[in-house]
Amino acid sequence: MFRTIFEPFKIKAVEKINLNSREERIKYLEEAYYNVFRLKSSQVIIDLLTDSGTSAMSADQWAAMMVGDESYAGASSWDNFLNAVRELTGVGYIFPTHQGRGAEKIIYSVLGGKDKIFLSNSHFDTTRANIEYSGAKAIDLPCEESRDFQSTFRFKGNINLQQLEHYINAFGKEHIGGIVMTLTNNTVGGQPVSLDNLKAVRYITNKYGLPLIIDSSRIAENTYFIKSCESGYEDFTYRQIAQEIYSLADVIVMSLKKDGLVNIGGFLCVRDKYLADKCHEILIITEGFTTYGGLAGRDLNAIAAGLKEVFEEDYLRYRVRSVEYLCEELKNKGIPVMYPPGGHAVYVDAARFYPHIPAHQYPAQALVCELYIGGGIRASEIGSVMFGSYDTENNLIPATNELVRLAIPRRVYTQSHIDYVIEVFDYILENKDKVRGYEIFMQTRYLRHFTAKFKKV
Ligand code: F0G
Repeated sequence: MFRTIFEPFKIKAVEKINLNSREERIKYLEEAYYNVFRLKSSQVIIDLLTDSGTSAMSADQWAAMMVGDESYAGASSWDNFLNAVRELTGVGYIFPTHQGRGAEKIIYSVLGGKDKIFLSNSHFDTTRANIEYSGAKAIDLPCEESRDFQSTFRFKGNINLQQLEHYINAFGKEHIGGIVMTLTNNTVGGQPVSLDNLKAVRYITNKYGLPLIIDSSRIAENTYFIKSCESGYEDFTYRQIAQEIYSLADVIVMSLKKDGLVNIGGFLCVRDKYLADKCHEILIITEGFTTYGGLAGRDLNAIAAGLKEVFEEDYLRYRVRSVEYLCEELKNKGIPVMYPPGGHAVYVDAARFYPHIPAHQYPAQALVCELYIGGGIRASEIGSVMFGSYDTENNLIPATNELVRLAIPRRVYTQSHIDYVIEVFDYILENKDKVRGYEIFMQTRYLRHFTAKFKKV
Protein backbone atom coordinates (compact mmCIF):
# COMPACT_ATOMS: atom_id res chain seq x y z
CA MET A 1 0.00 0.00 0.00
CA PHE A 2 2.82 2.41 0.92
CA ARG A 3 5.84 2.75 -1.33
CA THR A 4 8.48 3.27 1.35
CA ILE A 5 10.42 0.19 2.37
CA PHE A 6 12.10 1.09 5.64
CA GLU A 7 14.60 -0.72 7.86
CA PRO A 8 12.44 -3.35 9.63
CA PHE A 9 14.14 -2.88 13.00
CA LYS A 10 14.58 -0.36 15.81
CA ILE A 11 18.08 0.46 17.03
CA LYS A 12 18.87 -0.40 20.65
CA ALA A 13 22.66 -0.09 20.80
CA VAL A 14 24.62 2.31 18.62
CA GLU A 15 28.24 2.47 17.55
CA LYS A 16 29.80 5.88 17.11
CA ILE A 17 31.11 6.92 13.70
CA ASN A 18 34.16 9.19 13.94
CA LEU A 19 33.84 12.01 11.46
CA ASN A 20 36.95 13.53 9.91
CA SER A 21 37.91 16.18 7.36
CA ARG A 22 39.11 15.79 3.79
CA GLU A 23 42.57 17.07 4.86
CA GLU A 24 42.78 14.42 7.58
CA ARG A 25 41.72 11.70 5.15
CA ILE A 26 44.40 12.75 2.64
CA LYS A 27 46.98 12.33 5.41
CA TYR A 28 45.54 8.98 6.63
CA LEU A 29 45.50 7.56 3.11
CA GLU A 30 49.07 8.65 2.44
CA GLU A 31 50.14 7.00 5.70
CA ALA A 32 48.31 3.84 4.56
CA TYR A 33 50.26 3.85 1.25
CA TYR A 34 46.97 4.35 -0.63
CA ASN A 35 45.77 0.89 0.42
CA VAL A 36 42.46 1.09 2.31
CA PHE A 37 43.11 -2.30 3.95
CA ARG A 38 45.84 -0.45 5.86
CA LEU A 39 43.44 2.17 7.29
CA LYS A 40 42.20 1.96 10.86
CA SER A 41 38.44 1.46 11.04
CA SER A 42 38.26 4.61 13.20
CA GLN A 43 39.48 6.57 10.16
CA VAL A 44 36.57 5.27 8.04
CA ILE A 45 33.15 6.94 7.96
CA ILE A 46 31.10 4.41 5.96
CA ASP A 47 32.72 0.99 5.72
CA LEU A 48 31.67 -0.90 2.59
CA LEU A 49 34.78 -3.06 2.38
CA THR A 50 32.81 -6.26 2.88
CA ASP A 51 29.44 -7.66 3.93
CA SER A 52 31.25 -10.57 5.59
CA GLY A 53 31.25 -10.79 9.37
CA THR A 54 30.05 -7.18 9.57
CA SER A 55 26.34 -7.78 10.29
CA ALA A 56 24.55 -6.26 13.27
CA MET A 57 23.06 -9.01 15.43
CA SER A 58 19.52 -8.80 16.77
CA ALA A 59 18.54 -8.56 20.44
CA ASP A 60 17.41 -12.20 20.17
CA GLN A 61 20.85 -13.22 18.96
CA TRP A 62 22.59 -11.32 21.78
CA ALA A 63 20.24 -12.96 24.26
CA ALA A 64 21.09 -16.38 22.78
CA MET A 65 24.81 -15.53 23.18
CA MET A 66 24.31 -15.00 26.91
CA VAL A 67 22.88 -18.49 27.37
CA GLY A 68 25.51 -20.18 25.22
CA ASP A 69 26.58 -23.53 26.67
CA GLU A 70 30.38 -23.71 26.67
CA SER A 71 30.65 -27.40 27.61
CA TYR A 72 33.21 -29.26 25.52
CA ALA A 73 30.80 -32.04 24.55
CA GLY A 74 27.03 -32.48 24.58
CA ALA A 75 26.34 -28.73 24.82
CA SER A 76 22.79 -27.45 24.31
CA SER A 77 24.19 -24.80 21.93
CA TRP A 78 25.30 -27.62 19.65
CA ASP A 79 21.77 -29.05 19.64
CA ASN A 80 20.40 -25.62 18.73
CA PHE A 81 22.89 -25.26 15.89
CA LEU A 82 22.38 -28.82 14.64
CA ASN A 83 18.58 -28.54 14.65
CA ALA A 84 18.67 -25.20 12.82
CA VAL A 85 21.06 -26.40 10.11
CA ARG A 86 19.41 -29.83 9.73
CA GLU A 87 15.91 -28.38 9.47
CA LEU A 88 17.10 -26.00 6.79
CA THR A 89 19.37 -28.27 4.73
CA GLY A 90 17.85 -31.71 5.31
CA VAL A 91 21.37 -33.16 5.31
CA GLY A 92 22.55 -35.82 7.78
CA TYR A 93 26.22 -35.05 8.45
CA ILE A 94 26.82 -31.52 9.70
CA PHE A 95 30.17 -30.05 10.73
CA PRO A 96 30.60 -26.60 12.29
CA THR A 97 33.70 -24.66 11.19
CA HIS A 98 35.26 -21.37 12.27
CA GLN A 99 34.31 -19.74 8.95
CA GLY A 100 33.59 -20.60 5.31
CA ARG A 101 37.15 -21.30 4.30
CA GLY A 102 37.48 -23.81 7.16
CA ALA A 103 34.72 -25.87 5.51
CA GLU A 104 36.40 -25.41 2.12
CA LYS A 105 39.76 -26.60 3.44
CA ILE A 106 38.16 -29.82 4.70
CA ILE A 107 36.06 -30.74 1.66
CA TYR A 108 38.69 -29.87 -0.97
CA SER A 109 41.37 -31.79 0.96
CA VAL A 110 39.14 -34.84 0.49
CA LEU A 111 37.68 -34.28 -2.99
CA GLY A 112 40.64 -32.39 -4.50
CA GLY A 113 44.20 -33.42 -5.26
CA LYS A 114 46.43 -33.59 -8.31
CA ASP A 115 44.67 -34.42 -11.60
CA LYS A 116 41.31 -33.20 -10.29
CA ILE A 117 39.34 -30.38 -11.86
CA PHE A 118 36.44 -28.42 -10.35
CA LEU A 119 33.95 -26.60 -12.56
CA SER A 120 31.85 -23.75 -11.22
CA ASN A 121 29.55 -20.85 -12.06
CA SER A 122 32.51 -19.01 -10.41
CA HIS A 123 34.76 -19.96 -7.52
CA PHE A 124 35.13 -17.35 -4.80
CA ASP A 125 38.86 -16.63 -4.24
CA THR A 126 39.17 -18.68 -1.02
CA THR A 127 37.38 -21.58 -2.78
CA ARG A 128 39.82 -21.38 -5.66
CA ALA A 129 42.77 -21.08 -3.25
CA ASN A 130 41.69 -24.20 -1.30
CA ILE A 131 41.15 -26.18 -4.51
CA GLU A 132 44.51 -25.13 -5.92
CA TYR A 133 46.26 -25.76 -2.60
CA SER A 134 45.08 -29.39 -2.82
CA GLY A 135 46.80 -29.62 -6.22
CA ALA A 136 43.56 -29.47 -8.21
CA LYS A 137 42.42 -26.93 -10.82
CA ALA A 138 39.41 -24.58 -10.61
CA ILE A 139 37.66 -23.44 -13.80
CA ASP A 140 34.95 -20.75 -13.90
CA LEU A 141 32.11 -21.15 -16.39
CA PRO A 142 29.81 -18.15 -15.81
CA CYS A 143 26.89 -17.73 -18.23
CA GLU A 144 27.28 -15.44 -21.25
CA GLU A 145 24.85 -12.83 -19.87
CA SER A 146 27.13 -12.20 -16.87
CA ARG A 147 29.64 -10.48 -19.16
CA ASP A 148 27.14 -7.85 -20.23
CA PHE A 149 26.75 -5.30 -17.42
CA GLN A 150 23.65 -3.81 -19.06
CA SER A 151 21.74 -7.00 -19.87
CA THR A 152 18.58 -7.08 -17.79
CA PHE A 153 18.68 -10.90 -17.51
CA ARG A 154 17.93 -11.57 -13.82
CA PHE A 155 19.97 -14.76 -13.24
CA LYS A 156 23.45 -13.71 -14.32
CA GLY A 157 24.89 -15.93 -11.59
CA ASN A 158 24.00 -19.05 -13.63
CA ILE A 159 26.56 -21.51 -14.94
CA ASN A 160 26.98 -21.98 -18.69
CA LEU A 161 25.38 -25.44 -19.10
CA GLN A 162 26.73 -26.14 -22.61
CA GLN A 163 30.28 -25.40 -21.49
CA LEU A 164 29.79 -27.45 -18.34
CA GLU A 165 28.97 -30.59 -20.31
CA HIS A 166 31.64 -29.82 -22.87
CA TYR A 167 34.34 -29.57 -20.15
CA ILE A 168 33.19 -32.75 -18.39
CA ASN A 169 33.51 -34.65 -21.69
CA ALA A 170 36.76 -32.94 -22.67
CA PHE A 171 38.58 -33.71 -19.38
CA GLY A 172 36.82 -37.04 -18.75
CA LYS A 173 34.38 -37.41 -15.86
CA GLU A 174 36.95 -39.37 -13.80
CA HIS A 175 39.05 -36.17 -13.56
CA ILE A 176 36.22 -33.96 -12.33
CA GLY A 177 36.34 -33.52 -8.54
CA GLY A 178 32.94 -31.84 -8.41
CA ILE A 179 30.70 -29.07 -9.68
CA VAL A 180 30.62 -26.00 -7.43
CA MET A 181 27.61 -23.67 -7.52
CA THR A 182 28.12 -20.40 -5.59
CA LEU A 183 24.88 -18.70 -4.43
CA THR A 184 24.76 -15.82 -5.01
CA ASN A 185 27.70 -15.68 -7.38
CA ASN A 186 30.02 -13.28 -5.55
CA THR A 187 32.72 -13.20 -8.24
CA VAL A 188 30.25 -12.01 -10.89
CA GLY A 189 28.68 -9.28 -8.78
CA GLY A 190 26.61 -11.24 -6.27
CA GLN A 191 24.25 -12.19 -9.10
CA PRO A 192 21.62 -14.85 -8.33
CA VAL A 193 21.36 -18.36 -9.75
CA SER A 194 17.96 -19.69 -10.89
CA LEU A 195 16.50 -22.94 -9.62
CA ASP A 196 16.06 -23.93 -13.23
CA ASN A 197 19.84 -23.68 -13.74
CA LEU A 198 20.53 -25.56 -10.49
CA LYS A 199 18.16 -28.36 -11.49
CA ALA A 200 19.85 -28.63 -14.88
CA VAL A 201 23.23 -28.88 -13.12
CA ARG A 202 21.80 -31.64 -10.91
CA TYR A 203 20.63 -33.48 -14.02
CA ILE A 204 24.15 -33.27 -15.50
CA THR A 205 25.87 -34.35 -12.27
CA ASN A 206 23.51 -37.34 -12.06
CA LYS A 207 24.22 -38.24 -15.66
CA TYR A 208 28.00 -38.30 -15.06
CA GLY A 209 27.96 -39.44 -11.41
CA LEU A 210 29.60 -36.26 -10.06
CA PRO A 211 29.12 -34.52 -6.69
CA LEU A 212 27.28 -31.20 -6.62
CA ILE A 213 28.76 -28.79 -4.07
CA ILE A 214 26.69 -25.74 -3.15
CA ASP A 215 28.38 -22.71 -1.57
CA SER A 216 25.34 -21.24 0.16
CA SER A 217 26.98 -18.24 1.87
CA ARG A 218 24.32 -15.88 0.46
CA ILE A 219 21.49 -18.35 -0.14
CA ALA A 220 18.75 -16.26 1.53
CA GLU A 221 19.45 -13.33 -0.81
CA ASN A 222 19.39 -15.78 -3.73
CA THR A 223 15.97 -17.12 -2.69
CA TYR A 224 14.58 -13.57 -2.77
CA PHE A 225 15.36 -13.29 -6.48
CA ILE A 226 13.94 -16.75 -7.21
CA LYS A 227 10.66 -15.97 -5.47
CA SER A 228 10.25 -12.59 -7.15
CA CYS A 229 11.61 -13.36 -10.64
CA GLU A 230 11.41 -17.09 -11.44
CA SER A 231 8.03 -18.47 -12.37
CA GLY A 232 6.67 -21.35 -10.32
CA TYR A 233 7.98 -20.18 -6.92
CA GLU A 234 5.64 -17.25 -6.16
CA ASP A 235 3.79 -19.26 -3.51
CA PHE A 236 6.87 -20.74 -1.82
CA THR A 237 8.34 -19.17 1.30
CA TYR A 238 12.01 -18.13 1.12
CA ARG A 239 12.87 -20.96 3.49
CA GLN A 240 11.05 -23.50 1.28
CA ILE A 241 13.01 -22.28 -1.74
CA ALA A 242 16.25 -22.70 0.23
CA GLN A 243 15.16 -26.23 1.18
CA GLU A 244 14.45 -26.98 -2.47
CA ILE A 245 17.96 -25.76 -3.40
CA TYR A 246 19.62 -27.74 -0.61
CA SER A 247 17.77 -30.90 -1.65
CA LEU A 248 19.83 -30.85 -4.86
CA ALA A 249 23.23 -30.79 -3.12
CA ASP A 250 25.60 -33.61 -2.20
CA VAL A 251 27.83 -31.23 -0.26
CA ILE A 252 27.06 -27.81 1.21
CA VAL A 253 29.50 -25.20 2.47
CA MET A 254 28.46 -21.94 4.05
CA SER A 255 30.22 -18.92 5.42
CA LEU A 256 27.76 -17.87 8.12
CA LYS A 257 29.43 -14.44 8.19
CA LYS A 258 27.04 -13.52 5.37
CA ASP A 259 23.52 -14.96 5.50
CA GLY A 260 24.05 -16.48 8.95
CA LEU A 261 23.79 -12.88 10.25
CA VAL A 262 26.74 -13.46 12.59
CA ASN A 263 30.28 -12.15 12.89
CA ILE A 264 32.01 -15.53 12.71
CA GLY A 265 31.14 -19.11 11.71
CA GLY A 266 30.66 -21.59 8.92
CA PHE A 267 29.51 -25.14 8.22
CA LEU A 268 30.02 -28.14 6.01
CA CYS A 269 27.21 -30.62 5.29
CA VAL A 270 27.74 -33.94 3.56
CA ARG A 271 25.17 -36.56 2.54
CA ASP A 272 27.47 -39.54 1.95
CA LYS A 273 28.71 -41.46 5.03
CA TYR A 274 32.07 -42.46 3.55
CA LEU A 275 32.82 -38.84 2.61
CA ALA A 276 31.52 -37.63 5.98
CA ASP A 277 33.89 -39.96 7.87
CA LYS A 278 36.87 -38.50 6.03
CA CYS A 279 35.71 -34.92 6.63
CA HIS A 280 35.12 -35.69 10.29
CA GLU A 281 38.74 -36.76 10.75
CA ILE A 282 40.07 -33.52 9.27
CA LEU A 283 37.53 -31.46 11.25
CA ILE A 284 38.88 -32.79 14.54
CA ILE A 285 42.50 -32.26 13.52
CA THR A 286 42.10 -28.74 12.14
CA GLU A 287 38.95 -27.12 13.54
CA GLY A 288 37.81 -28.75 16.77
CA PHE A 289 35.62 -31.47 18.19
CA THR A 290 32.48 -32.59 16.33
CA THR A 291 30.07 -30.54 18.39
CA TYR A 292 31.75 -27.13 18.21
CA GLY A 293 34.16 -27.07 15.22
CA GLY A 294 36.01 -23.80 15.54
CA LEU A 295 33.24 -22.04 17.44
CA ALA A 296 32.23 -21.14 20.99
CA GLY A 297 28.85 -22.31 22.31
CA ARG A 298 27.63 -18.72 22.23
CA ASP A 299 28.50 -18.48 18.51
CA LEU A 300 26.52 -21.66 17.76
CA ASN A 301 23.50 -20.17 19.54
CA ALA A 302 23.72 -16.86 17.65
CA ILE A 303 23.94 -18.78 14.36
CA ALA A 304 20.83 -20.85 15.17
CA ALA A 305 18.90 -17.60 15.71
CA GLY A 306 20.44 -15.85 12.66
CA LEU A 307 19.47 -18.66 10.28
CA LYS A 308 15.83 -18.12 11.26
CA GLU A 309 15.84 -14.32 11.00
CA VAL A 310 17.55 -14.17 7.61
CA PHE A 311 14.58 -15.77 5.83
CA GLU A 312 12.02 -13.32 7.23
CA GLU A 313 10.18 -11.61 4.39
CA ASP A 314 10.47 -8.07 5.79
CA TYR A 315 14.18 -8.47 6.33
CA LEU A 316 14.90 -9.84 2.86
CA ARG A 317 12.76 -7.22 1.13
CA TYR A 318 14.58 -4.42 2.96
CA ARG A 319 17.96 -6.04 2.31
CA VAL A 320 17.62 -6.45 -1.43
CA ARG A 321 15.85 -3.11 -1.83
CA SER A 322 18.59 -1.17 -0.02
CA VAL A 323 21.24 -2.54 -2.41
CA GLU A 324 18.97 -1.87 -5.39
CA TYR A 325 18.31 1.71 -4.20
CA LEU A 326 22.02 2.56 -4.11
CA CYS A 327 22.53 0.97 -7.52
CA GLU A 328 19.63 2.82 -9.15
CA GLU A 329 20.60 6.21 -7.73
CA LEU A 330 24.19 5.81 -8.96
CA LYS A 331 22.96 4.67 -12.36
CA ASN A 332 20.70 7.75 -12.57
CA LYS A 333 23.77 9.95 -11.95
CA GLY A 334 25.52 8.34 -14.92
CA ILE A 335 27.89 6.18 -12.86
CA PRO A 336 28.58 2.96 -14.81
CA VAL A 337 27.32 0.22 -12.49
CA MET A 338 26.72 -3.48 -12.95
CA TYR A 339 22.96 -3.64 -13.58
CA PRO A 340 20.67 -5.06 -12.32
CA PRO A 341 22.42 -5.33 -8.94
CA GLY A 342 23.01 -8.56 -7.04
CA GLY A 343 22.11 -9.23 -3.45
CA HIS A 344 24.92 -7.82 -1.32
CA ALA A 345 26.83 -5.13 -3.18
CA VAL A 346 26.93 -2.54 -5.93
CA TYR A 347 29.77 -2.83 -8.43
CA VAL A 348 31.11 0.21 -10.29
CA ASP A 349 32.90 -0.25 -13.61
CA ALA A 350 36.03 1.86 -13.03
CA ALA A 351 37.49 1.11 -16.47
CA ARG A 352 34.50 2.85 -18.05
CA PHE A 353 34.43 5.61 -15.45
CA TYR A 354 38.12 6.51 -15.79
CA PRO A 355 38.90 5.69 -19.43
CA HIS A 356 42.05 7.85 -19.20
CA ILE A 357 43.63 5.51 -16.61
CA PRO A 358 45.10 2.34 -18.19
CA ALA A 359 44.78 -1.05 -16.48
CA HIS A 360 48.43 -1.06 -15.34
CA GLN A 361 47.68 2.14 -13.39
CA TYR A 362 44.75 0.47 -11.64
CA PRO A 363 41.64 2.60 -12.33
CA ALA A 364 39.57 0.75 -9.70
CA GLN A 365 42.22 1.44 -7.06
CA ALA A 366 42.06 5.11 -8.07
CA LEU A 367 38.29 5.13 -7.51
CA VAL A 368 38.67 3.38 -4.14
CA CYS A 369 41.11 6.14 -3.07
CA GLU A 370 38.79 8.90 -4.35
CA LEU A 371 35.83 7.48 -2.41
CA TYR A 372 37.89 7.54 0.75
CA ILE A 373 39.26 11.04 0.24
CA GLY A 374 35.90 12.39 -0.93
CA GLY A 375 33.72 11.01 1.83
CA GLY A 376 35.59 8.56 4.06
CA ILE A 377 33.93 5.62 2.27
CA ARG A 378 35.92 2.40 2.26
CA ALA A 379 35.24 0.12 -0.74
CA SER A 380 37.23 -2.70 -2.27
CA GLU A 381 39.09 -2.98 -5.54
CA ILE A 382 38.09 -6.01 -7.61
CA GLY A 383 40.27 -5.54 -10.63
CA SER A 384 43.90 -5.88 -11.63
CA VAL A 385 45.24 -5.29 -8.12
CA MET A 386 43.29 -8.31 -6.87
CA PHE A 387 43.31 -10.52 -9.96
CA GLY A 388 46.11 -9.23 -12.21
CA SER A 389 49.01 -11.57 -13.02
CA TYR A 390 52.35 -11.18 -14.82
CA ASP A 391 53.83 -12.64 -18.00
CA THR A 392 57.41 -13.93 -18.22
CA GLU A 393 58.67 -10.38 -18.99
CA ASN A 394 56.95 -9.08 -15.89
CA ASN A 395 54.24 -7.21 -17.81
CA LEU A 396 50.87 -7.04 -16.11
CA ILE A 397 48.16 -9.30 -17.52
CA PRO A 398 45.13 -7.26 -16.43
CA ALA A 399 42.01 -8.74 -14.85
CA THR A 400 38.91 -9.13 -17.05
CA ASN A 401 37.20 -6.20 -15.28
CA GLU A 402 38.25 -3.18 -13.22
CA LEU A 403 35.51 -3.03 -10.59
CA VAL A 404 34.93 -1.32 -7.28
CA ARG A 405 32.66 -3.20 -4.87
CA LEU A 406 30.46 -1.28 -2.46
CA ALA A 407 29.43 -4.16 -0.16
CA ILE A 408 26.58 -3.40 2.21
CA PRO A 409 26.83 -4.84 5.75
CA ARG A 410 23.54 -6.36 6.93
CA ARG A 411 21.34 -4.25 9.26
CA VAL A 412 24.18 -1.77 9.94
CA TYR A 413 23.51 1.35 7.90
CA THR A 414 20.27 3.28 7.42
CA GLN A 415 18.99 4.98 4.30
CA SER A 416 20.59 8.30 5.23
CA HIS A 417 24.02 6.63 5.32
CA ILE A 418 23.32 5.33 1.83
CA ASP A 419 22.07 8.78 0.73
CA TYR A 420 25.38 10.19 1.96
CA VAL A 421 27.28 7.63 -0.16
CA ILE A 422 25.20 8.67 -3.18
CA GLU A 423 26.05 12.33 -2.52
CA VAL A 424 29.78 11.56 -2.30
CA PHE A 425 29.53 10.35 -5.89
CA ASP A 426 28.75 13.97 -6.92
CA TYR A 427 32.24 14.86 -5.71
CA ILE A 428 33.62 11.81 -7.56
CA LEU A 429 31.91 12.99 -10.77
CA GLU A 430 33.17 16.58 -10.43
CA ASN A 431 36.78 15.43 -10.09
CA LYS A 432 36.59 12.60 -12.60
CA ASP A 433 39.04 13.97 -15.19
CA LYS A 434 41.66 15.09 -12.66
CA VAL A 435 42.13 11.67 -11.09
CA ARG A 436 45.39 9.84 -11.78
CA GLY A 437 46.33 6.19 -11.48
CA TYR A 438 48.64 4.38 -9.07
CA GLU A 439 51.63 2.08 -9.20
CA ILE A 440 52.56 -0.68 -6.76
CA PHE A 441 56.01 -0.41 -5.17
CA MET A 442 55.69 -3.19 -2.56
CA GLN A 443 53.67 -6.39 -2.78
CA THR A 444 53.46 -10.00 -1.60
CA ARG A 445 53.28 -12.99 -3.94
CA TYR A 446 49.80 -14.16 -2.87
CA LEU A 447 46.71 -12.03 -2.13
CA ARG A 448 48.73 -8.85 -2.66
CA HIS A 449 45.70 -6.55 -2.40
CA PHE A 450 45.65 -6.88 1.41
CA THR A 451 49.14 -5.47 1.95
CA ALA A 452 50.43 -3.82 -1.26
CA LYS A 453 51.85 -0.30 -1.03
CA PHE A 454 50.96 2.17 -3.77
CA LYS A 455 52.16 5.55 -4.96
CA LYS A 456 50.50 8.05 -7.26
CA VAL A 457 51.57 8.02 -10.91
N1 F0G B 1 32.36 -18.33 -0.31
C1 F0G B 1 31.94 -17.12 -0.73
C2 F0G B 1 30.94 -17.04 -1.83
C3 F0G B 1 32.42 -15.95 -0.11
O1 F0G B 1 31.99 -14.76 -0.54
C4 F0G B 1 33.35 -16.08 0.95
C5 F0G B 1 33.86 -14.88 1.62
C6 F0G B 1 33.77 -17.36 1.34
C7 F0G B 1 33.24 -18.47 0.69
C8 F0G B 1 34.76 -17.56 2.45
O2 F0G B 1 34.15 -17.38 3.65
O3 F0G B 1 35.38 -15.48 4.72
O4 F0G B 1 33.94 -17.03 6.06
O5 F0G B 1 36.09 -17.82 5.14
N2 F0G B 1 33.72 -13.70 1.17
C9 F0G B 1 34.13 -12.45 1.81
C10 F0G B 1 33.85 -11.28 0.92
C11 F0G B 1 35.52 -12.46 2.34
O6 F0G B 1 34.25 -10.14 1.27
O7 F0G B 1 33.19 -11.44 -0.11
P1 F0G B 1 34.94 -16.89 4.98
